[in-house]
Amino acid sequence: MEVIIVPTPTDVGRVAAAKIADVVARRASPVIGFATGSSPQHLYADLHRRVEAGVISFATARGFALDEYAGIPPAHPQSYASVIARDVVSPLGFDPARVHVPDGRATDLRGAAADYEAAIDAAGGIDIQILGIGSNGHIGFNEPTSSLASRTRIKTLAQRTREDNARFFDSPADVPRHCITQGLGTILDARELLLVAQGEAKADAIAATVEGPLGAMVPGTALQLHPHATVVVDEAAASKLRLSDYYRYTYSHKPAWQRFE
Ligand code: GLP
Repeated sequence: MEVIIVPTPTDVGRVAAAKIADVVARRASPVIGFATGSSPQHLYADLHRRVEAGVISFATARGFALDEYAGIPPAHPQSYASVIARDVVSPLGFDPARVHVPDGRATDLRGAAADYEAAIDAAGGIDIQILGIGSNGHIGFNEPTSSLASRTRIKTLAQRTREDNARFFDSPADVPRHCITQGLGTILDARELLLVAQGEAKADAIAATVEGPLGAMVPGTALQLHPHATVVVDEAAASKLRLSDYYRYTYSHKPAWQRFE
């Protein structure tokens, strides 16, 4: 796992965007996995600047969201279909027909989950999966005790996740109780993983993900099983890492041929 510690959230966005740009430059039709939430906002803003400057294009790219709430209509402003359309598809110039979000309104949610796995496969798999992390260590909506081998499926949201996400809804009671999320096994199938986090509230989850024992109680630790996982964090999110000096030393001595920015 490569851990990159940078001073500010803006720097997190810049370095993570450089990583995406590197992947996009190497693929004729890149497939990008998207996270929602506040964590990747600086990353999306930096990519938007690059699109505006004409140095990157997503015209031939495809995209898959990590997860979706169950039971709220796609047109709801807080559905992840709406969030991805607003934060990613439109500002980055994706073709909306090439961006997929799990169908949280399907009457057959199991079938919808299986269809989602099949669609990822049909696209040739995900080249790079963007991830945030929940304060309880979840990635996607894989709550603690999710199987490390899980596939896209229905999950029940943890109470802490519902409380964390209540800020996006009119009232805490409006936060859905269920979701469809890519599984940890699905996420691990992506060719590269890119996790971004900023702020003190994520420091425990980052320390446990990077340095803690591998285990289902901290789903983020699944990254330890992936051969190409990059974690980009600001100083606050990095504040509980024990080996931060080593990560800084490693990054500053990275050979030029291995750098992506
Ligand atoms: C959300 C999403 C995750 C996200 C995480 C952290 O509920 N399902 O994909 O990474 O929780 O959210 P935030 O980035 O807003 O802190």
